[in-house]
This record gives sequence, structure tokens and C-alpha cells, in this order.
Amino acid sequence: MSVRRLAPDHVQPASFAFDAANENWADQQIAKYPEGRQASAVIPLLWKAQEQHDGWVPRAAIEEVARKLGMAPMRVMEIATFYTMFNLQPVGEHFVQLCGTTPCALRGAEAIKKVCQDVIGPQSTVTADGKLSWLEVECLGACCNAPMVQINFDYYEDLTPENFRTLLDDLRHGRPVKTGSQVGRSGSEPLGGGETLKDPALYDGTVIGAGDWQARVTEQRKAAAEAAAAKAAAEAEAKKAEATKPEAAKTDAAKPEAIKTDATPAAAGKPATDTAAAGRPKPSEPGQPTSAAQDTPAANGKPPGAADKPVK
Ligand code: FES
Repeated sequence: MSVRRLAPDHVQPASFAFDAANENWADQQIAKYPEGRQASAVIPLLWKAQEQHDGWVPRAAIEEVARKLGMAPMRVMEIATFYTMFNLQPVGEHFVQLCGTTPCALRGAEAIKKVCQDVIGPQSTVTADGKLSWLEVECLGACCNAPMVQINFDYYEDLTPENFRTLLDDLRHGRPVKTGSQVGRSGSEPLGGGETLKDPALYDGTVIGAGDWQARVTEQRKAAAEAAAAKAAAEAEAKKAEATKPEAAKTDAAKPEAIKTDATPAAAGKPATDTAAAGRPKPSEPGQPTSAAQDTPAANGKPPGAADKPVK
């Protein structure tokens, strides 16, 4: 891990100001936070300052961010010096961040570092043509393809001193380069491709006791299709039978039940009392005895013989 110090005075600019577009962008970021919480925008503003200032953050930019956010310059300095995403020294057009953490170290990061020193020079210095600079950083999360470097926003993995030297030369001369693994590895698969889960039989479900699920699903689909076809045929048959019925049968079938009943001679000759009886309350309705037993005095809560005495 390199020491995080501000660049020497002779490379520091006298002042820094956001240009109009970035000033406007910064104001929009600050406006996202509630009153009194403007300091929350410190990282976006430092990042924008770095973008504007050729990829590194000078002291003047730290002070300008502090002024805009109403923070003590030291608070902003602490953030700028803590996060390695902020470059405190001038960087080249192609800025190499070399991972020197254990997995990469075990896989040859030291040899890659040697190439950086040979081709670019000391850490945190820019080549005379302004094309290259490098810095050793902590794990960049691509350990499975170690050793690796990040150059600007791309990763280059499975490096050897030879392919890394070629890579730097191609970048310096503007030739196209390949990002990711430099030995043809796909993603983070083992070299030469995947070695496990290659048997297609693993994917038909049999090995987990599901039986021949493909045959079962085919059978189920066939049965469902046959059932649907049989249902459609039965409905078509019923429609056909309805269409061929005699007209009179259809009319009679359509008559209301009540009309049919009243038309019978017996119903016509019913005594009127039957009609009146139909209007009586049913025995189960409130205030009516529900059985013969309820007509007895005992059932009414009166002793036998006490019922119906005239009131004086
Ligand atoms: S140790 Fe180098 S990428 Fe993780």
C-alpha cells in the first residue's frame, strides 16, 4: 500500500474552480441532501473535481469542495486521503493500479511490479510522454485471475511479465488491447474451461430422484390435450342436439313452472281456505306454538287448570 500524501507543491495548481457545467452538477448533488447535511455530497464533488483535473485531486480542489460544502478543509482532506479512488498525485493517460495483495503476490505480482518500474519508472510518477503512471493498491476483487491490474476503468488479468509488457506498449501507442483475462480464460472459469457439471444427464432431473420428468411432462400434456378435445366435442354435440329439437318442445320447456301448475284442473278447483291457510303464520314463526305440546298449560308456564281464568 502506498503512502497517501498530497502531491508536492511544485505540481500543485494555484487555484481550482469547477467549470460552469460541473458547478451546476455539483449544486444538483448538494440539493439532494437536507439542510445542514450538505457534507454528504463530499465524495461526488471530489470525484467530479478529479475528473475535471486530469484524473487527480489537487489541494486547491480539496479546499474548494470544503468551501462549497461548508466543511473544514481538514475533514475533506481526510476523505481524499483515505479513499484510494482519489488520486493525490498527477497520473498518466493510462493509470495502472497494480494489486499487490497476497493472492496476486503469490501468483507473481512482484514480477508485474518490476515491469512497471522498468517501463514506467518509480511509483506515482508519470512518463515523460504523459502516457503512463502506476500505483500499488490493495485487492481489487479479481483474485481468481491473479495477478491483475486495473488500468483506468478496465481490468487486465492473468498477467505475465511478457503479456503485461506488451499490453503497456500497445496502450502507449494507441493500439487496441484486450480487457479481462490475457490468456483466454472465460470469466473466472478454470484455465481451459469448466471441469465440472459438464454431463448433460445432470440437467434432466434423474440424479435427484425425479424420475424421467421429461416423459412425465409429455404424458401430462398429452392427457390434458385429449381431455380438452373431448370436452369441446361434447359441447359441440349438445349444441347440435339443441338446434335439431322440435319447436313445440322448446316452447313448452321455456314456460314458467307456475303457469304449467295453474293450468291443471285440480289446481283450478282448490278451495279458497287453502289460499287463506297459505297466509297463516307458520308454526315456527314467533308467537306461535311449534307443536301440540306447546298448547298445554304446562307448556305455557301455567299450572294445570289455572289457564284462562277471567281477570277481575
Ligand atoms: S489479491 Fe489481487 S485482486 Fe485480490
